[in-house]
Amino acid sequence: MSEKTSSWKRTCFSVEITKESLGKTVTLAGWVQKRRDHGGVIFVDLRDRKGIVQVVFNPDSGGDVMKCAHDLRSEYVISVTGTVGLRPEGTLNPALKTGEIEVTASSLTVLNACAPLPFVVEDDTDVSEELRLKYRYLDLRRPSLRSNLVLRHRVAQVARNFLSDEGFIEVETPMLTKSTPEGARDFLVPSRLNGGDFYALPQSPQLFKQILMIAGLEKYFQVVRCFRDEDLRADRQPEFTQIDAEMSFVESDDVIAVMESLVEALFKEAGISATAPFNRLTYDEAISRFGLDAPDTRFAMELVDVGSIVAGSGFKVFAAVVAGGGVVKTIRVPGGAKLSRKDIDELTAVAATYGAKGLAWVKFTPDGWQSPIAKFLSDSEKSAIATVTGAGEGDLLLFVADSLDVAATALGRLRLFIGKKLEIIPEDTFNFVWVTDFPMFGYDETAKRFTAVHHPFTSPLDEDLPLLETEPMKVRSKAYDLVLNGVEIGGGSIRIHDPGVQSRIFTLLGISEEEAGQRFGFLLEALKYGTPPHGGIAFGLDRILAIMTGAESIRDVIAFPKTQKAVCLMTEAPSRVDNAQLQELSLRGLRKKD
Ligand code: AMO
Ligand code: AMP
Repeated sequence: MSEKTSSWKRTCFSVEITKESLGKTVTLAGWVQKRRDHGGVIFVDLRDRKGIVQVVFNPDSGGDVMKCAHDLRSEYVISVTGTVGLRPEGTLNPALKTGEIEVTASSLTVLNACAPLPFVVEDDTDVSEELRLKYRYLDLRRPSLRSNLVLRHRVAQVARNFLSDEGFIEVETPMLTKSTPEGARDFLVPSRLNGGDFYALPQSPQLFKQILMIAGLEKYFQVVRCFRDEDLRADRQPEFTQIDAEMSFVESDDVIAVMESLVEALFKEAGISATAPFNRLTYDEAISRFGLDAPDTRFAMELVDVGSIVAGSGFKVFAAVVAGGGVVKTIRVPGGAKLSRKDIDELTAVAATYGAKGLAWVKFTPDGWQSPIAKFLSDSEKSAIATVTGAGEGDLLLFVADSLDVAATALGRLRLFIGKKLEIIPEDTFNFVWVTDFPMFGYDETAKRFTAVHHPFTSPLDEDLPLLETEPMKVRSKAYDLVLNGVEIGGGSIRIHDPGVQSRIFTLLGISEEEAGQRFGFLLEALKYGTPPHGGIAFGLDRILAIMTGAESIRDVIAFPKTQKAVCLMTEAPSRVDNAQLQELSLRGLRKKD
């Protein structure tokens, strides 16, 4: 760059100016956050990547400079040279890091103008997310989003340093690959050179990382993009990032131990203390106490089983459900007796969305039980219920009688709903819990077949192997999820390294030898050539960042996220392509959009 243009170059960032800089001449460069014209004096808040500083233009700055300053508008790109001074008494701004000082300008260069803005660039904004995503570059200028990206960078950096210090090697695995069975739909990419054939974008590097273990790498990691075509929610994006790892010659506890230290290091970077060892719950305990396999353990309000108390009661709904092999579960809402009829109707509607056929309730009032089911229960049944739930005056009990699945899910969800509504869930608390011993199989009622709860390469618990052919639904796996405040932030397992066990699992899943060969033939072949025992885990980096920053959605921690409909509003992807391009890919032309 020529000497002539270099006078606008920054000598320091806004936040680097302190009281020590008083009297010094500095050159700053950045954007106009705000301009205030006080007649003779113009104040400009200049924003750069690190912060904001106040610049003052006054008649001493010179006529040209004043005129130029007068024409400044929001988000113009400028460079200012000036002298650092203290702000006058009474004009200090404690909200700013540079709130005690200001720079009195002696020269100003407008490096670029800015078109009229679709919205004001500031943290407290109420513009729609659609507009923010369309103009994402303006959105990302907001300090809160920018600091999310900075933290994301730092956390990923800590992950890389930590794992590499632990002897893990970062290996890139292919993006154009074959379908991986993580249970979502694949994104497909047509092959031009092999007309009619498709690559799949990886749902995770699962098969490759196992193959890297067979290849003798022993410890692998990757900060890696994964692609899943599934229905999107606040914590799900079609492309997202995993901190993915795999280790050889390990059992679950070995993986858990090193990953707990990783998680400690990641959260420390965000100023959050996560103290290992984390609590552990088996899947069965999680379901029975919290109703969900990703329990929010920040608050109690646990589910209590009252099936044995009400089995012989006069309330026919309860008695019939227990007789039919179902369960009756309840949660105690502390202080919930003050809820109105309308509130309880709302809770009933919430429970119904998760399949509950009703929601029986009891208010513990000074006059005793107030409840539509009180008249059906004997005094001893009532007092037994009060004892096991610990319910006392002012409390509310809510009951669901159904299959374990429905009762647990409905009450588990209701527990979260009430926790939020009544503000029972403590804020600024970070509760980590491992959930272990997941069932190997689920059952798909529509397709009438078994499904893999994790993926089909997850190893069953050794002691459950004999149950594979006799009672498959009772087989537990060596899978573990890490749950933080009710969000699954990571999951993994010990893998099957015995080809015989692997083929028994495929048989159970109804995957024929031929189909297994077509889909995972390369892995099955590789497993024959000296596979070490191995296992691993993957963490959802976006979800971790969302919790660290308190973001409502993972979109706020991703630079260029997609909407609920998987659209990028800035680039307008996905979009139509022309027929010539399709033909080249051996795809038939599509009709024009209406
Ligand atoms: P899993 O499918 O559990 O495991 O994924 C690991 C973690 O990735 C995060 N995650 C997501 N984050 C954002 N958007 C999504 N659509 C999304 N899907 C998953 C979650 C989840 O815990 N190969 C295995 C790991 C292993 O067994 O080692 C896997 O991918 O936080
Ligand atoms: P009913 O006698 O059908 O009016 O029901 C009395 C109470 O029991 C109501 O509060 C219903 O919501 C509740 N109830 C009905 N079925 C169930 C069920 N399966 N589980 C829990 N409560 C139920």
